[in-house]
Amino acid sequence: MAHGDPGPGETFENIRNSIAVASGKGGVGKSTVAVNLAVALAETGARVGLIDADIYGPNVPLMMGATEPPEVREGKIQPIERHGVKMVSMGFFLKEDEPVVWRGPMIHGALRQFLADVNWGELDYLLIDLPPGTGDAQISISQLLPLTGAVIVTTPQGVSLSDARKAATMFDKVRVPILGVIENMSYFLVPGSGERHEIFSHGGGARFAEQHGFNLLGQIPLYQGVREGGDLGVPVALREPESEPARIFKEAAARLLEICGSGAAQQARQRQSVVFQPVRK
Ligand SMILES: Nc1ncnc2c1ncn2[C@@H]1O[C@H](COP(=O)(O)OP(=O)(O)O)[C@@H](O)[C@H]1O
Ligand SMILES: [Mg+2]
Repeated sequence: MAHGDPGPGETFENIRNSIAVASGKGGVGKSTVAVNLAVALAETGARVGLIDADIYGPNVPLMMGATEPPEVREGKIQPIERHGVKMVSMGFFLKEDEPVVWRGPMIHGALRQFLADVNWGELDYLLIDLPPGTGDAQISISQLLPLTGAVIVTTPQGVSLSDARKAATMFDKVRVPILGVIENMSYFLVPGSGERHEIFSHGGGARFAEQHGFNLLGQIPLYQGVREGGDLGVPVALREPESEPARIFKEAAARLLEICGSGAAQQARQRQSVVFQPVRK
């Protein structure tokens, strides 16, 4: 990897594919999706890295069960490895419950370091768990790294979708292709009876994907084991591999492998701004 300050468009030859996991709104399950996709991709034998780009609210360490500070060797941060995934997070460098009080340019500096000063080695996939919104971290990441594309996470409900549209529009402006949409908290199956409840409505993410010509990568149910896996540091895709959400995460990861491998992302980049027409509601 290049030392120093990577400029716009600099290629990281050791990173084959870099995928931002984004949403407009907080709490919709970005970090949950990022860690589950990361472990599911790693299970296929791919070499996977994960950057926690949520500098103010880093959740990846807890969700992956890793809290120890990384070693620095020869001026390079050694990523922490858990469940077959290499990671870096601001959370590793903070004391518990310590807040980050930083301005935008410092966020850029931290993310630059997460890319250039971490000994990632060769990676097939680098996932980037973004904070909500369309702010500093989103802009920095798309400037620092030639992203293969972004995965948008949304719940099916109106407010989340409206924010997801904003996120998609932002990526379109910086010419980052949308690789797909994950509709999270899509439905709830009552344990035992299997009765289905659609707490946050249903199908909004699927319609959003369809309207814009994005791939629908999966519809993840609200499921207690998803939350538990996050709190216990073992993503549900590993902890309950036979569960419905685990199955859907693994299918979504397989679909991402296909999309990245087929060159569809590059084609989407070329078509971009022609294909993506924000739908006004
Ligand atoms: N499908 C799901 N079923 C149950 N709980 C979920 C699901 N997706 C996310 N959660 C929980 O919701 C909370 C918010 O998810 P998180 O991934 O932190 O969202 P974000 O990164 O978008 O802010 C977490 O406590 C997480 O465990
Ligand atoms: Mg998060």
